[in-house]
Amino acid sequence: MNQHHARGEGENRVAVYPGSFDPVTFGHLDIIRRAAKQFDRLIVSVLNNTTKSPLFSVEERVELLREVTKDLPNVEVDSFRDLLVRYMRNKQAQIIIRGIRSVTDFEYELQMASTNRQLDEGIETIFMMTNPKYSYLSSSIVKEIAKFHGAVQDLVPPAVEAALRNKYVPNRQP
Ligand code: PNS
Repeated sequence: MNQHHARGEGENRVAVYPGSFDPVTFGHLDIIRRAAKQFDRLIVSVLNNTTKSPLFSVEERVELLREVTKDLPNVEVDSFRDLLVRYMRNKQAQIIIRGIRSVTDFEYELQMASTNRQLDEGIETIFMMTNPKYSYLSSSIVKEIAKFHGAVQDLVPPAVEAALRNKYVPNRQP
């Protein structure tokens, strides 16, 4: 029995939805809303990964996530720079939430879930199928469209749309 994850009667089921969220899309938000219904607390946590070069800083990504989840009382937003399972142990969370859009996501997700299980068998990954409406959607696609000043209002919440517009101001001096 893994003492770190022992839960008594009446204790909360805490899930973590980790990711890059660069930036959060309607696809992520759909997973957040649905996952929030299934658990007592949902912590959406942004990976602070120094090796990637993101468009939005961790602070900006956290702020956008807070803005778009402010109507969800059991959702909190955080960031982490650690092994996910260690971060979860500190938060006393037992469940990892990941969204799956298609078979192309499956291999990577299986590898991550198996790695996390190997590192801490008390932690369970639960997959949620993305709403088919958003199955083609990704943060990279959104950034690509915004870079060329295409319409993203059907893909991201208004706060994210505004933030993208700020990043990609036409003819801005470097
Ligand atoms: O949105 P992403 O980029 O697909 O999310 C990937 C993420 C953040 C879930 C993954 O990179 C992660 O958990 N990183 C933390 C470091 C870690 O624990 N790695 C071992 C498990 S793969």
